[in-house]
Amino acid sequence: MTRFEGYGVLITGAGQGIGEAIARRFAADGANVLVTDRDSSRAMRVAAAIRDSGGTAESHTCDVADRTAVEAAVAQAVASFGSLDVLVNNAYSCHPDPTHFEDHEDGPWYQDFEITLHGAYRCVRAALPYLAAAGGRGAIVNIGSVNAEQHFGCHAYSAAKAALASLTRTLAVECAPRGVRVNLVEPGTIRTSAWENRQEALEHAASHYPLGRVGEPDDIAAAVAFLASADAAWITGVTLPVEGGLLVGNLAMLREMPQE
Ligand SMILES: NC(=O)c1ccc[n+]([C@@H]2O[C@H](COP(=O)([O-])OP(=O)(O)OC[C@H]3O[C@@H](n4cnc5c(N)ncnc54)[C@H](O)[C@@H]3O)[C@@H](O)[C@H]2O)c1
Repeated sequence: MTRFEGYGVLITGAGQGIGEAIARRFAADGANVLVTDRDSSRAMRVAAAIRDSGGTAESHTCDVADRTAVEAAVAQAVASFGSLDVLVNNAYSCHPDPTHFEDHEDGPWYQDFEITLHGAYRCVRAALPYLAAAGGRGAIVNIGSVNAEQHFGCHAYSAAKAALASLTRTLAVECAPRGVRVNLVEPGTIRTSAWENRQEALEHAASHYPLGRVGEPDDIAAAVAFLASADAAWITGVTLPVEGGLLVGNLAMLREMPQE
């Protein structure tokens, strides 16, 4: 028996990149996956690819900014699969920073919070009654970022990711009596389309990672699957960095240190 056999899993922003890898991973481990994305064609492509490789998946067009669409996605997962056991909050928004902080505009700033933080809030609110009815196997995995820990640019996105880590801890305690665990994975630099046409930047980033490379979407999918699984039955409220050691040392400083 595969570890997620019979599970209903809903992933937001799963039409490409990390979300797609998470969807494929759950499906490979036997889950019934609802691939949701605000871009219908992306969601449909991923769901079809999962079915082509023998898995079970449906797609749903869902912008996490839209409460009605979020509730409809949750309803589809429950109607199609009979239960909703795992929610992965992966959709995000990240605008580049202006040169000077005082030149921020409200629109992009609020948008980063609206999708990255409030989108997850909306999904949790809609999914929680079903996760709580999942017989103790209900789990939420939020996708954070190393940007929540240190300054790597993207002011509003980083603050929203830090708030998401806080919300993870709050929810972990609130939801524990209802048999739902809530954890967060904090990726470092991951090779996705977010870095398309920025090969040089990726190589530069890799040189700062103690493990000598940037991450791949599958590195994150493996951590998400672990936290959602019975192997993590006594783990809730944690932030799990999956970042090749980026946050535990300062390679640049060490390299630039004058030798004796
Ligand atoms: N790629 C990285 O280097 C990196 C680093 C740290 C954290 N992360 C986090 O990983 C997650 C996925 O990143 P990625 O690089 O795979 O992203 P990506 O840009 O490759 O894909 C994101 C997907 O989300 C969808 N999406 C965007 N806004 C949406 C909305 N409002 N509602 C629903 N879907 C929406 C997009 O259509 C797209 O398919 C994000 O939470 C991101 O913050 C990524």
